[in-house]
Amino acid sequence: MAITIALFLISLLTLSPLSSSLSLNYYQKTCPDAEIIIAGTVKNAAGKEKTVPAALLRMHFHDCFIRGCDGSVLLNSKGDNKAEKDAPPNGSLHAFYVIDDAKKALEQHCPGVVSCADILALAARDAVVLVGGPTWEVPKGRKDGRTSKASETAQLPTPSFNLSQLRQSFSQRGLSMDDLVALLGGHTLGFSHCSSFENRLRNFNSTHDIDPSMHPFFAASLRSMCPVKGRPKNAGAPMDPSSTTFDNTYYKLILQGKGLFSSDQALLANPKTKGLVTKFASSHEAFVDAFAKSIIKMSSITGGQEVRKDCRVVN
Ligand code: HEM
Repeated sequence: MAITIALFLISLLTLSPLSSSLSLNYYQKTCPDAEIIIAGTVKNAAGKEKTVPAALLRMHFHDCFIRGCDGSVLLNSKGDNKAEKDAPPNGSLHAFYVIDDAKKALEQHCPGVVSCADILALAARDAVVLVGGPTWEVPKGRKDGRTSKASETAQLPTPSFNLSQLRQSFSQRGLSMDDLVALLGGHTLGFSHCSSFENRLRNFNSTHDIDPSMHPFFAASLRSMCPVKGRPKNAGAPMDPSSTTFDNTYYKLILQGKGLFSSDQALLANPKTKGLVTKFASSHEAFVDAFAKSIIKMSSITGGQEVRKDCRVVN
């Protein structure tokens, strides 16, 4: 009995930093239309530019993995301080204007109330819904951070990570292996530049020119999209062939050796994660349920101190 209570208390203690300050009805009195305004802004932008949903989802992930989901990724560089968004791992983040547009509309409606970090968390949810993914209730009340350092983007996982590096990166943030497999399903959306996967296509290691975990036909098609000479600017590949639809194709591709990054293919390296990949590949519903649960966890890693007036600058 004593052991059970102790375990329960330990689990509460480990979980509390994730969620204690957030609530579902946070803006009920102070800005009841906040979610409607944000959803409208995201819908409008995504209607004009198909790449917006993927951009917002990735932006939210990159925000949460550095100093928690505190909108630090949204801050501009200032003076000597180079911000997260100007560091190489964030070089291809885009659609920051969508968050600015939502913030502008909210500042007119209920000034100084809705944090940029909450706007981003809600926009990521709305983005997923717009491309056919699951919906979920976003706990709100995040505060915006006052610090954004380019050097801290070294804490983001890289596409060449193996499973134990991925596991460590996630567990440091209170996220499990199950969360890892579910959240990587975000790679059903969007686009990747050649630079993120080309190490797998040529001179992979001393014994293999091409990463042996990659399907040879897939490798050949990526090589033709990413030629060494005469490569078009911004060359790359869609994350999966249905990259504007939130579906479970990503997992089916991994099982065929067609994951784009080593970090995607790494999910087959252990029986537990491989089992989840197989489950999500065969059940869209199991995937979207797991994704919704895990993204609520990820997006509840808090960290900020204020509600910014302008998402690009601290107050
Ligand atoms: C855990 C390890 C992860 C690694 C190593 C990783 C790495 C990458 C890389 C290298 C790209 C391509 C960037 C480019 O070349 O422009 C990318 C794109 C993307 N990632 Fe991840 N990612 C990870 C997890 C996630 C998670 C958890 C999500 C969301 C839940 C996510 C969502 C996306 C999306 C939507 C894109 C496409 C972005 C766009 O088209 O603008 N990623 N990721």
